Amino acid sequence: MTSNSNIDTTPIQIFDTTLRDGEQSPGAAMTHDEKLEIAILLDEMGVDVIEAGFPISSQGDFRAVTEISKIVKRASVCGLSRAGFKDIDRAGEALKGAFRPRIHTFISTSPVHMKHKLNMGENAVLEAVGASVTRARNYTSEVEWSAEDATRTVPDFLCRCVDVAIQSGATVINVPDTVGYSTPQEFFDIITMLRNRVPNADKVIFSTHCHNDLGLAVANSLAGVLAGARQVECAINGIGERAGNAALEEVVMALRVRKDIMPFTHNINTTLLNRASKMVSNHTGMPVQYNKAIVGKNAFSHESGIHQDGMLKNVETYEIMRPEDVGVHATSLMLGKLSGRHAFKDKLETMGYVLEAPVFEDAFRRFKDLADKKKHVFDDDIAALVDDGIMRGKDTISIKALRVEAGTGIVPVASLTLEAEGAVRSVTVSGDGPVDAIFMAIREAYPHNAALQLFQINAVTEGTDAQATVTVRLEENGRTVTGKASDTDTMVAAAYAYVNALNKLLVKREKHAPEALTVAR
Ligand code: KIV
Ligand code: ZN
Repeated sequence: MTSNSNIDTTPIQIFDTTLRDGEQSPGAAMTHDEKLEIAILLDEMGVDVIEAGFPISSQGDFRAVTEISKIVKRASVCGLSRAGFKDIDRAGEALKGAFRPRIHTFISTSPVHMKHKLNMGENAVLEAVGASVTRARNYTSEVEWSAEDATRTVPDFLCRCVDVAIQSGATVINVPDTVGYSTPQEFFDIITMLRNRVPNADKVIFSTHCHNDLGLAVANSLAGVLAGARQVECAINGIGERAGNAALEEVVMALRVRKDIMPFTHNINTTLLNRASKMVSNHTGMPVQYNKAIVGKNAFSHESGIHQDGMLKNVETYEIMRPEDVGVHATSLMLGKLSGRHAFKDKLETMGYVLEAPVFEDAFRRFKDLADKKKHVFDDDIAALVDDGIMRGKDTISIKALRVEAGTGIVPVASLTLEAEGAVRSVTVSGDGPVDAIFMAIREAYPHNAALQLFQINAVTEGTDAQATVTVRLEENGRTVTGKASDTDTMVAAAYAYVNALNKLLVKREKHAPEALTVAR
């Protein structure tokens, strides 16, 4: 693709879209407080731009962009908008409190999108590009323009659109591979073409936004960087529409580990990657696959004898990066029922958790309960316990009591007391199995129409006394949400996970889906 002689080593800007494109993943709805918590961590991690939402799409997104604008200390905060003035004005309003506001406006440029989605011809699209960028510049000097479906756009037309965007004042030109169709060489050529052909291309930053439909999102993004792009759009754990976006942790670690062929710097504190991955997984309810690069549970485990032998002789035999570099620490100290507040606090701090007093006290009480039931409490147990407490603390529907009877020769029965929106209700319901009885009891105590799409149980650690993490996915009117909970009692975890999903559904009901992405003026 290129040699690295005479390469421009301008630092790479990391643009995180976990809270916008990431939240568009099916089932990934996050509560307002969860979004703020993620934004604070991204800012601390050194992300350069945080895309906090799509302000016109819902009241919830508007509020998230508004609040994140106020709390973020160093990153640019970005709001997405289509090309219509209403969208841009709404984004401008939401970003008012940001110290570095950025409006990201986009329109489709490929023949298939222009014909079937926009019903617009080339001239109308060019006009919309100019008008939208000019409008956005009234609000801020940081204006990013995206050619949606750029990689399936006719090259000459793409150049003309980018030219108009630059002339109208865009400072960042984003080149999305919206449908994840491109390949590294092709993506390299598109960025190279734009930089070579469009007048004043050297006055703007080119950006990549690659989807992962063919599993090439990270490779394409890095090819874009080699071709001169200096911003990479990505998301923690690679979440996003369909197969997702380029994974932030993979892009950043590839740049770090392969500095020999990609000599670029970035501002990311990589030791926070593992924590960010866990936080995003917990808040979205989307599990991270075990063999996921960088942040998967197995990313640093060596199972085969040959590998273990090599590792004992010299870690460089099989390890290209150190687990500590991404915030994974060996379990140095296992906690048990005799561990006190101090040891628990120390452990939380090494894991990156700083809890306020009431949250800490609640976590400590639940840790003691867990240590009574389980001989050894591992780091993963503590992470599950703390994250679970944080999630439950914000719920508006909560379980007050649960009793389940099941076994051979009896009909499974669940007796449940639920508090919802201030009212307490107790029910006793039988079912085909204990989980069925619990879910039917919740449905009776809090009637709703959501359909169960997924029920999944995972052990947090090994052993029969391990905690179970239960994942429940519910669907209502085309909206899906995922709830999660952990407990040593799988039935209790199942009940909490279902209620956690219901709570998320309540949040998501506020958020109406964005209209079809067409130009709204
Ligand atoms: O994938 C895409 O094209 C997008 C744009 C809105 C940038 O997400
Ligand atoms: Zn996208």
